Amino acid sequence: MSKPTYPDLKGCGIGAETCRWLADNGVKVAVSGRNEEALDQVVAELRGSGAEAAAISAECTDAQSLERARSDAEKRLGPIDILVAFAGGGTARPAPVEMTSESDWRSGIDHNLTATFLTLKTFLPGMKVRRSGSILTMASTAGRSSSPASPAYAAAKAGVIMLTRHVAQEVGSFNIRANCLSPSAILTERTALHMPEGKRSQIAALHPISRLGIPADVAAAALFLASESASWITGATIDVAGGRLMH
Ligand SMILES: NC(=O)c1ccc[n+]([C@@H]2O[C@H](COP(=O)([O-])OP(=O)(O)OC[C@H]3O[C@@H](n4cnc5c(N)ncnc54)[C@H](OP(=O)(O)O)[C@@H]3O)[C@@H](O)[C@H]2O)c1
Repeated sequence: MSKPTYPDLKGCGIGAETCRWLADNGVKVAVSGRNEEALDQVVAELRGSGAEAAAISAECTDAQSLERARSDAEKRLGPIDILVAFAGGGTARPAPVEMTSESDWRSGIDHNLTATFLTLKTFLPGMKVRRSGSILTMASTAGRSSSPASPAYAAAKAGVIMLTRHVAQEVGSFNIRANCLSPSAILTERTALHMPEGKRSQIAALHPISRLGIPADVAAAALFLASESASWITGATIDVAGGRLMH
């Protein structure tokens, strides 16, 4: 089998790529995160290709910061119709439960599950008033099946799936949809740093479609779920996983 080739991943995380796909399809995009320099770079690129975009910094584990971000984004771009809650991270690293410190456990839950909860809580009231919205959340194959990931990350991502279903049930009658993306190994600028060629092929071989995912794979699924084409899909979790998981 021929070796897969991957695109240039400079400036390419899943969130940034999703911003590009949304902007290319006419969406005004508030690009959010904590690193203002990185936000400005993505915004400059989007504006350069003719899109309307604004950099809105936010710390998603902090309700007040999210509220400031919501207010700022709405002042600059108007009401938020599509909420992409993809922030994830934390200090937890793969290790057995008994070797996982309480602070790493709390960090994994906080930066993945609580960050998603707070983001949804901040943006849902406006969507309910407007009776319209599409919400996307971010899980991981690690939250769907046993894996070598950290227990905190795995539990948090499983929690994101259930939180998304809960919200979908709660707000469907307000014409708001909530769906979750669950990627397997995605090669980004960051993950590429820790993945030499040999490791890439080992991980690729775990997938029936024997390559790693790229941010565009996730962005394409996100664009579909956010769009009116998915108007009767809610509470779903889409495995963007090269067939590694088949439910
Ligand atoms: N790459 C994969 O293989 C993979 C697989 C499955 C799921 N995922 C999930 O996909 C999402 C994006 O991952 P990625 O691989 O693209 O990673 P990444 O390049 O590190 O991106 C993570 C993004 O989340 C933002 N972020 C993290 N914590 C935040 C917080 N507390 N408040 C605000 N922003 C925060 C970061 O912004 P700043 O840097 O500006 O703070 C960054 O833009 C994550 O939820 C990750 O768990 C990734």
